[in-house]
Amino acid sequence: YIAKPFEHNEIIETVAKIIREHTKAEREEKVEREEPQPAVHGMIGSCPQMMELFRRIRKVAQTTSTVLINGESGTGKELVARAIHNLSDRENQEMISVNCAAIPENLIESELFGHEKGAFTGATATRTGLVEAANRSTLFLDEIGELPLEAQARLLRVLQENEIRKVGSVQSKKVDVRLVVATHRDLKQLVVDSYFREDLYYRINVMALLIPPLRERGNDILEVADAILRRTCIRLKAPMLNFSDSASHAIAKYAWPGNVRELENAIERAVVLAEKNKIGEELLAIDLESSTPTETSAFDNSEPVEDLSLEDYFQRFVLEHQDTMNETQLARKLGISRKCLWERRQRFGIPRKKKQIA
Ligand SMILES: Nc1ncnc2c1ncn2[C@@H]1O[C@H](COP(=O)(O)OP(=O)(O)OP(=O)(O)O)[C@@H](O)[C@H]1O
Ligand SMILES: [Mg+2]
Repeated sequence: YIAKPFEHNEIIETVAKIIREHTKAEREEKVEREEPQPAVHGMIGSCPQMMELFRRIRKVAQTTSTVLINGESGTGKELVARAIHNLSDRENQEMISVNCAAIPENLIESELFGHEKGAFTGATATRTGLVEAANRSTLFLDEIGELPLEAQARLLRVLQENEIRKVGSVQSKKVDVRLVVATHRDLKQLVVDSYFREDLYYRINVMALLIPPLRERGNDILEVADAILRRTCIRLKAPMLNFSDSASHAIAKYAWPGNVRELENAIERAVVLAEKNKIGEELLAIDLESSTPTETSAFDNSEPVEDLSLEDYFQRFVLEHQDTMNETQLARKLGISRKCLWERRQRFGIPRKKKQIA
């Protein structure tokens, strides 16, 4: 306020001050709004979908909401989970990471929830489960779609009551666990097909993050490829290499069904084989012919179809090449780990061919 009677100068000065402060506030607000979202936890990308993803990661990291991460294989699901944990106030505790597809079905309940001594044959001592180990930290359940139904029921209890009960125990124990889960599957479809509990689905689908496939990230592909090339040259102690124009073109055009992981593998192979300081298209060994053109994979967000075509691609590839390639070569070409290849063989019912005994 201005005390009356006032000086002419005084009122001018006061108004000027108000205007100054007002525009300053406005400017600050604008800066806050327009500030580019810096990549999180080593994730490279600046296309709108990735910027939106980074923004959401930052937001959910501040909360304890359960997060469901969806994305094709190799899109960065684990990286996102780690980013959420590292940006949260639980960062000084270790995140516990469990791949539900990698633990045999008959062991998963006791791995996750622990067991009492004598709960089953072989349970010679009481054991703490991984959920309890994640107390006051983050539990990352990868490939949640592969969790058997009985374990799903126990997990639901953790989410509903914040307590766990060991296998074979009548007592419950309170836990404070922040849950982050991931899957490359269409969980909703699994619910429809009765492989996944509907109540659990709604419990974990509080905050869903969809990681777009690499082929839908526009110019990010080349940005990611350049960064990986730099990183790989340093890691392999190779001289700094560049992509030739035709190599860049091929990278941008290829559909990358194995996403960033497949790209990493292709680049590593090229760096190892490179004899000049430019990486030519041929060193990447990209098969543009069998790759889906970028146009057809645009945003129709029909996950089941996307999932299906990827599974089709996987099956066709394995069936066509398993006679001429060993498991390591197959996995490399698909941009997945050998463990993942084995799991998918199980899931899709294409067992490894038995070697002829000579
Ligand atoms: N945006 C990105 N920028 C740089 N590197 C990335 C990015 N996204 C993923 N990566 C790298 O790609 C590889 C695969 O990432 P990650 O393991 O997180 O994917 P995923 O979705 O969990 O894969 P999978 O389905 O095979 O388990 C990792 O080496 C990761 O560092
Ligand atoms: Mg993963």
